[in-house]
Amino acid sequence: MTVPLLKIGAVLSTMAMVTNWMSQTLPSLVGLNGTRGGTSEKITLFPSPEDGWQIYTSAQAPDGKCICTVVAPAQTTCSRDPRSRQLRQLMEKVQNISQSMEVLDLRTFRDLQYLRNTESLMKVLDTKLRATDSQKTVNAKNFQELKDKMKQLLPLIPVLDQYKSDTKMIVQLREDVRNLSNSLLMIQEEMGAYDYEELQQRVMILEARLHACMQKLGCGKLTGVSNPITVRASGSRFGSWMTDTMAPSADNRVWYMDGYYKGRRVLEYRSLNDFIKGQNFVQHLLPHPWAGTGHVVYNGSLYYNKYQSNIVVKYHFRSRSVSVQRSLGNAGYNNTFPYSWGGFSDIDFMVDENGLWAVYTTNQNAGNIVVSKIDPQTLEILQTWDTGYPKRSAGESFMICGTLYVTNSHLAGAKIYFAYYTNSSTYEYTDIPFHNQYSHISMLDYNPRERVLYTWNNGHQVLYNVTLFHVIKTNGE
Ligand SMILES: *[C@@H]1O[C@H](CO)[C@@H](O)[C@H](O)[C@H]1NC(C)=O
Ligand SMILES: *[C@@H]1O[C@H](CO)[C@@H](O)[C@H](O)[C@H]1NC(C)=O
Ligand SMILES: *[C@@H]1O[C@H](CO)[C@@H](O)[C@H](O)[C@H]1NC(C)=O
Ligand SMILES: *[C@@H]1O[C@H](CO)[C@@H](O)[C@H](O)[C@H]1NC(C)=O
Ligand SMILES: *[C@@H]1O[C@H](CO)[C@@H](O)[C@H](O)[C@H]1NC(C)=O
Ligand SMILES: *[C@@H]1O[C@H](CO)[C@@H](O)[C@H](O)[C@H]1NC(C)=O
Ligand SMILES: *[C@@H]1O[C@H](CO)[C@@H](O)[C@H](O)[C@H]1NC(C)=O
Repeated sequence: MTVPLLKIGAVLSTMAMVTNWMSQTLPSLVGLNGTRGGTSEKITLFPSPEDGWQIYTSAQAPDGKCICTVVAPAQTTCSRDPRSRQLRQLMEKVQNISQSMEVLDLRTFRDLQYLRNTESLMKVLDTKLRATDSQKTVNAKNFQELKDKMKQLLPLIPVLDQYKSDTKMIVQLREDVRNLSNSLLMIQEEMGAYDYEELQQRVMILEARLHACMQKLGCGKLTGVSNPITVRASGSRFGSWMTDTMAPSADNRVWYMDGYYKGRRVLEYRSLNDFIKGQNFVQHLLPHPWAGTGHVVYNGSLYYNKYQSNIVVKYHFRSRSVSVQRSLGNAGYNNTFPYSWGGFSDIDFMVDENGLWAVYTTNQNAGNIVVSKIDPQTLEILQTWDTGYPKRSAGESFMICGTLYVTNSHLAGAKIYFAYYTNSSTYEYTDIPFHNQYSHISMLDYNPRERVLYTWNNGHQVLYNVTLFHVIKTNGE
């Protein structure tokens, strides 16, 4: 009887690993090399020897790591033809996607196998329990213990269903990649007229779907926050810094906005390393000054609250212009409803796996935190939830997988104290500690791409890892 119970523990840790894998293994996929035993598979999508990309994948179950080797095609003379170069780029993209797919697929497949085994073990256990129940021959205490354990395991069943539907999603994506590869192959053979725009569109859609699929697979409920890592000590006591959660993983430009009050200067560092060293940055000067530290960079634009107003502004970096601005409902502003630390933190933007959100409050909501889903193109409010939690008693808040987490203070001893689930419009009190090393947090935001928390703590830029457990059932989004 102990065997199945031991197995369950292993499954839970496997699920935690899914989360880790999402953030760590994938970005470093390309460039890894070699095999580690296990099954080894060779996929050749472009078989022509000069032009051919060859992908060798191999996966190893025990440590959950996937290793890929890519053999790049030799450069051919026709790569000077711009159309051919475009095509080559597209192919590379598809190859990149297809590589990610393979890893995702192997990983999910293994987890699914694991869970399936557990499922059958559970069924056996259940049957045995029922049988014993009728015989009434076992020691009553042991029996009760077993029954309790069984009860604890029941929530695993919906997790299994989730995995099954995730697998379907992957199968679908695989088919898309195959189709696209086939079209590209045909075009490559003909090299006649082709609609580059249309192809590029398809690749982009595919990328977006892969992105969404991977993010959703790793989604879950926050159960822990790691020790902090101080990335840099710079700037004043209050400020904010971030990366663009929508950018490809190779793009790790850092945006930096020092101060909470009337600032207009946004620094863009070329990479995280440059940010650490304080070098290689460009400066953007915003047309309107900002209030607070609740800004976010999302898909190439900065979303922020204009000073002394409840106007929210979308500033597009590349065109260096405001693409849209509007007033955010009845949101309070000008330090009327800040977080506990003040600093004009009335309106706080954030991004999670589901998109863009704004946290604020209004007179109508009596100063309790309101969270709204925001349309990133128009800044219109799509839907709003009243959490009932007083904003002045909140240190900061951040969103993960559609759940708003609120800290109870910005000072030492702060913990994640309250969680509001937008999927079910319910809340619960939580008790998730974290180490507030410099004792004054003025910004705290989750980054769904990296699955870390970004904070600004008393002139220090600090990161935390998060532990997420798989969502038992999502609302189909
Ligand atoms: C990658 O594999 C190739 C061929 O097996 C080998 O020559 C090369 O040294 C490997 N590179 C690394 C970084 O392991
Ligand atoms: C494919 O991935 C590699 C490594 O991450 C990257 O350098 C390259 O730019 C990607 N290609 C495309 C077309 O996205
Ligand atoms: C892929 O191609 C096959 C046959 O050409 C077609 O039946 C299928 O619907 C296509 N799938 C997608 C997702 O476009
Ligand atoms: C809502 O999401 C939370 C965590 O993300 C999850 O635990 C909960 O089961 C979900 N509720 C519904 C009704 O889907
Ligand atoms: C990101 O921006 C591009 C254009 O720059 C747009 O086509 C795309 O829809 C945007 N994605 C999201 C999720 O807003
Ligand atoms: C903002 O608050 C300050 C006082 O803190 C006040 O002087 C100013 O008029 C207010 N501005 C607006 C637009 O409400
Ligand atoms: C998060 O975890 C990864 C791998 O375990 C580690 O490399 C990274 O430094 C951690 N980051 C933080 C902020 O703890």
